[in-house]
Amino acid sequence: MSAILEDFRRLIVPALAHWNHPGFMAYFATSASGPGILGEFLAAAVNPNGMLWKTSPASTELEQVTLGWLREWIGLPPEFFGMIHDTASTATMHAVAAARTAAKPGEGRLVMYASEQAHSSVEKAGLALGLGRDSLRKIPVDGEFRMRPAALAEAIREDLAAGRRPFCVTATAGTTSTTSVDPIPAIAAIAADAGIWLHVDAAYAGAAAIAPEFRWVLEGAGRADSLVVNPHKWMFTPVDLSAFYTRRPEVLRETFSLVPEYLRSAEHPRAVNLMDYGVPLGRRFRALKLWFVLRSYGREGIAAVIRAHTSYARELAALIDAHPGFERLAPAPFSVVCFRYKGSDDDNLKLIERVNASGRAFLSHTVLDGKVAIRLAIGNLATTREHVMEAWRTLCG
Ligand SMILES: Cc1ncc(COP(=O)(O)O)c(C=O)c1O
Repeated sequence: MSAILEDFRRLIVPALAHWNHPGFMAYFATSASGPGILGEFLAAAVNPNGMLWKTSPASTELEQVTLGWLREWIGLPPEFFGMIHDTASTATMHAVAAARTAAKPGEGRLVMYASEQAHSSVEKAGLALGLGRDSLRKIPVDGEFRMRPAALAEAIREDLAAGRRPFCVTATAGTTSTTSVDPIPAIAAIAADAGIWLHVDAAYAGAAAIAPEFRWVLEGAGRADSLVVNPHKWMFTPVDLSAFYTRRPEVLRETFSLVPEYLRSAEHPRAVNLMDYGVPLGRRFRALKLWFVLRSYGREGIAAVIRAHTSYARELAALIDAHPGFERLAPAPFSVVCFRYKGSDDDNLKLIERVNASGRAFLSHTVLDGKVAIRLAIGNLATTREHVMEAWRTLCG
C-alpha cells in the first residue's frame, strides 16, 4: 500500500486538474467539501446497493428525505417526487423519455424544443433515445441569451401544421455559457397550451434559489413536469450527484418499470423501488454525502456561500466595465462573468493560456455572438474575494 500511495503522489497528482483549488474558475466548479468527502467515504465503506427498497432501506429512505429538504429549500411544491441520478445529462434523458411516453398518440415525427443556448445534454437525450439529433429544434434567444417565447410558440405552430408532433420543451435556468435564465412562466404557459412536457434544466443556477433573493430563478418552475438541479455543481457535494424531480412519477414508472421474477418483492406498497423509475438497477448510496452536506452547512450556510460568490462576480464585472482594455459580453446574474480583451479571438485564447499556465487560476472560454469570450466561473467553496482579484490581476498583467 505504501508503494501504491507513493505512486499516487508521484504519478497521479501531477496529472490532475485541481478542481478543489480555489483558483479553479473554469467550467462550473464542483467542490468536495469536508462533510461531502466524509459522506462519500462512508458510503464506499458500507457499500449498499439500493436497487430495491429492501436491498437497503436506508438508501432509498435517505434519498427521499434529502431530496425532500432540497425541494423545500429551492421552493418547489411538495407534490414533486425526487430521485438521484449521477449527472444532469442522465436526468434530462429520463425526462425526455417520460415526455415521449406522455406524448399525445398520433402519426408524425416527435419534435422537442430548447433554446440555442441549452446544454448539449438535451440534444444527446434525443440521440440516446433514438429520436435523432434533428428531433431537437433550437429556439432563438434574445439579446441576453434567453429563449424567446414567441419564437417557441411559432415553432410549435409550424411543426403542428407540417404534421409533426411536439412533445417536450426544456427551459434552462442558468445556461452553460452565460447563466442566462429562460422566461419559465411564459414557456410553461406555451407548454400547457400545446399539451407538451416541460423540463427545467437548473443544473447550475437551481442552487441559487436556496437564497431568498435568488428565488426568482425558479419562478414558474412549479408548473414544470420535471426539473434537474446538481448539488455537485454549486452545493459543495463531490461529483456525482444530480437531483431529479418530477410531478409525474407514474409516467417514469410506466416508461421504465419492468420487473423480472428474481426482483419481485412483497414489501409494503409505500416502499419505493427506485429501479422502477429509470434505467439503472444498481444504485450507489449517493444520498449519504448529500445528507452530510445539507446538515452540516444548512440552508443558511449554503445561501451565504452562494451570496459571497455572486458578490465577487459583481465586483469583477464592475472592474471589467471600468477597464478600457476589456469588455463584458453578457449580464452576470450569478457567479459567472463572460468578457473579452479588446483584441482578436486569438489574443483572447492566448491570454487564457497565459493565465492557466501561471497556475494561479484556471479559466475556460465560450463563444458569444461569434466572438471568443473569457469565462470566469466562481463556485468553489474555497474561493475567496482575494482569489478572484488575483485572477483579475493576472489577466491584466
Ligand atoms: C445547464 C447545464 N445542464 C446540464 C449540464 C450537464 O451536467 P452533468 O455534467 O451533470 O451531466 C451542464 C454542465 O455543465 C449544464 O451547464
